Amino acid sequence: MVLGLVLLLGAGVTLQVRATLTRTLLAQLQEASVSLGRDLAARSTDPLLINDLYNILQLLRETQTNNPDVRYAFILDHDGRVVAHTFGSGFPADLVSANSVATDAYHRTTSVQTEEGVVWDTAVPIFDGKAGTARIGLSEQRMKETIAAITTRLLLATALVSLVGILAAIFLTWLLTRPVRQLVEATEAVRRGDYSPRVRRWADDELGELADAFNVMAADLATADTERQEREQMRAFFLRQIITAQEEERKRIARELHDETGQALASVMVGLRNVEEASSAAEVHTRLADLRGVASATLESVRRLALELRPSVLDDLGLVAALQRYTAEYTARFRIPVDVQIVGLDDRRLAPAVETALYRIVQEALTNIAKYARATHVSVLLERRDGQLNTIIEDNGCGFDAEGVLRSGAAENRLGLYGMRERAELIGGTLMVESQTGCGTTVYVRLMSET
Ligand SMILES: Nc1ncnc2c1ncn2[C@@H]1O[C@H](COP(=O)(O)OP(=O)(O)OP(=O)(O)O)[C@@H](O)[C@H]1O
Ligand SMILES: [Mg+2]
Repeated sequence: MVLGLVLLLGAGVTLQVRATLTRTLLAQLQEASVSLGRDLAARSTDPLLINDLYNILQLLRETQTNNPDVRYAFILDHDGRVVAHTFGSGFPADLVSANSVATDAYHRTTSVQTEEGVVWDTAVPIFDGKAGTARIGLSEQRMKETIAAITTRLLLATALVSLVGILAAIFLTWLLTRPVRQLVEATEAVRRGDYSPRVRRWADDELGELADAFNVMAADLATADTERQEREQMRAFFLRQIITAQEEERKRIARELHDETGQALASVMVGLRNVEEASSAAEVHTRLADLRGVASATLESVRRLALELRPSVLDDLGLVAALQRYTAEYTARFRIPVDVQIVGLDDRRLAPAVETALYRIVQEALTNIAKYARATHVSVLLERRDGQLNTIIEDNGCGFDAEGVLRSGAAENRLGLYGMRERAELIGGTLMVESQTGCGTTVYVRLMSET
């Protein structure tokens, strides 16, 4: 736009200057023609009257040399014959008739078309026309050259200013778009997954704020990416641990079946053979009583094994019943009273995945309490309120650094707390552990949408 205006201004000024100059210079040329003509007429009066041709010729030459615009000059006598002229040889035939002046007039100027362009011809009567007429012709040539030179300079100046304008515009555009270009490059890098680039804050304007916001965003993305990678690693590690744990569990069950149930059944076989070989009814009775004891111990151990693997009550009667059964056994086994409170659940069953997850979380929390807390009281609260399901397990034990354990838990082969959190997140919930050394531990599980 600026460039267009500069060009328009340049063209306008050039045209205006040309028009004014042409007008002024033309007027000057005409005036010069008149004054030179009158001067020539005055000075040639005497020589013409005494017919001094030499002097007249001198006068004509002098006039032409002194003024570069003078194209020609000549003197006509009373009868209109050419007395002297500046043409050397070959006076143009039709030039005499091109201009004439009345004897009572001072002068007359008119334009004459020649091969070299327009010539302003002035005729001045000598001695009131009684002696003759002086004629002088001034060419427009020099005036045209001057105007052309000035026009060229003005156009050159316009072109120069435009060039400077273009260069300034290019530089300014480069300068102003530099922050935006940087932002674009950095955004591209972020799109490719490289969160390292940061952009400079060039100025305290909207772009500066954008740059700051971008930097914060890139930093957040980098942190989120690192966290995601760490989580991914933890997950992979956890998966490996689960597979190992499953194998371990199978080994344990196999060993238990072999060592306890197998041994017990073997002793039942031996006992039965002894019963076969018994001689008296009293002996049969005693051996059968022994066998009964062995069978009932075996039954108990098989039942415990089954319960540990998966309590059938969870599938049959639901989470509340399973928790009550589990906590009762827990209290009997570890001598730690557990207070179970169920609020707002009635007899409703939850989704199987939710029930299993919550059961395992409570189980792990209670096992940890038995293992580490040295607590004298535990409370378990299962509460449904405003479409939210909260599970809270609280003990009054020794407490621990929950944050630290959760951060380094998986790495140190401790999977309990980490597994609890994973289970909670798998069913769309969150798990929080609050604990302080000496002040007990509370585990919160929050499930936002009720499933
Ligand atoms: N209720 C609690 N009171 C005191 N300390 C606890 C409690 N729960 C957990 N801890 C501490 O946190 C640590 C981590 O527990 P976590 O359940 O993750 O692992 P673990 O029980 O040692 O091993 P795993 O559960 O994998 O068999 C425990 O070693 C214990 O020191
Ligand atoms: Mg544990």
